[in-house]
Amino acid sequence: MNELDALAQEARAAFASAVAPADLENAKARYLGKAGRITELMKGLATLPVDEKKSRGAAINQAKQAIEVALNERRQALADAELDQQLKAEALDVTLPGRQRGAGGLHPVSLTLERIESIFGSMGFEVADGPEIESDWFNFTALNTPEDHPARSMHDTFYVEGGSEKAPNLLRTHTSPMQIRHAVAHVKRHRAALDAGQGMPEIRVIAPGRTYRVDSDATHSPMFHQCEGLWIGENVSFKDLKFVFTDFCRTFFESNDLVLRFRPSFFPFTEPSAEIDIQFQSGPLAGRWLEVAGSGQVHPNVVRNMGLDPERFIGFAFGMGPDRLTMLRYGVNDLRLFFDGDIRFLSQFR
Ligand code: DAH
Repeated sequence: MNELDALAQEARAAFASAVAPADLENAKARYLGKAGRITELMKGLATLPVDEKKSRGAAINQAKQAIEVALNERRQALADAELDQQLKAEALDVTLPGRQRGAGGLHPVSLTLERIESIFGSMGFEVADGPEIESDWFNFTALNTPEDHPARSMHDTFYVEGGSEKAPNLLRTHTSPMQIRHAVAHVKRHRAALDAGQGMPEIRVIAPGRTYRVDSDATHSPMFHQCEGLWIGENVSFKDLKFVFTDFCRTFFESNDLVLRFRPSFFPFTEPSAEIDIQFQSGPLAGRWLEVAGSGQVHPNVVRNMGLDPERFIGFAFGMGPDRLTMLRYGVNDLRLFFDGDIRFLSQFR
């Protein structure tokens, strides 16, 4: 083997032992760089006679090319190895489940409120909304609730700052104050027609919303929902209440063999008053009477506080619990689940 072949072989071996690209570039400098072995050999040509110069020059060039080829091969090999490494490090496990975009959904009680609004909407009821901080007047007094009524006690009611000492403000204990608020606004809008003896469009409204009581166990939460209903006109009777509420329950629970019972009761703002119980004829709750609402014919004092003549205007009201309706509809047995905010529970209703 001549010295040029030996040089090429030496270079190839040096390149092969380079494992990092930087090592390879250093090795390259040693053979192909400005002060490298090949350059050195080229410089040596100057001292040779012309005829030898040519053949020697060609031989050196051949060796140089061989070294360059070896260099490029090694560069490629190192680059391939690096890519391999990288691919292995970044390997995807395609058998892992994909990341899902969390699809949002409505809270089960919101679903119930939407259902209630749409069912009563189809029967011509408006939907009204009102404040959760109420005055003593709207929450109690205007609703014919006497000063010594137990609902007014500190044990049952969250009183808040504001109002007077005799008539403090409070978190509304029911949605019934909306009867007064809505009726007063309605009457005001139609006052002129009423005074001119032209009558007034009927008041037909539901008022869903949050209500508050000092109460907390599996079936009571300090914050809960109610939905008030009110229908006042010149000829609205208990018969209408029975029809409307029966129709609502059957539509809400999608069941025609659902029986309602109007059980005599007492509320200060209705006379007569009734609790409404329902009974399913089939399914897991079949045969049990389940209380779903309070109701009654609106008391004359309350009609008067609406700004109407109780000799002329008459109607009914009811107040039901959307939380309870949601529990019955979906078979949930602990009310607190609705307010814990546990996604595993809530996502079942999406
Ligand atoms: N406000 C009552 C309660 O919270 C429920 C109620 C009973 C509402 C009778 C009414 C009604 O409108 O007529 O217990």
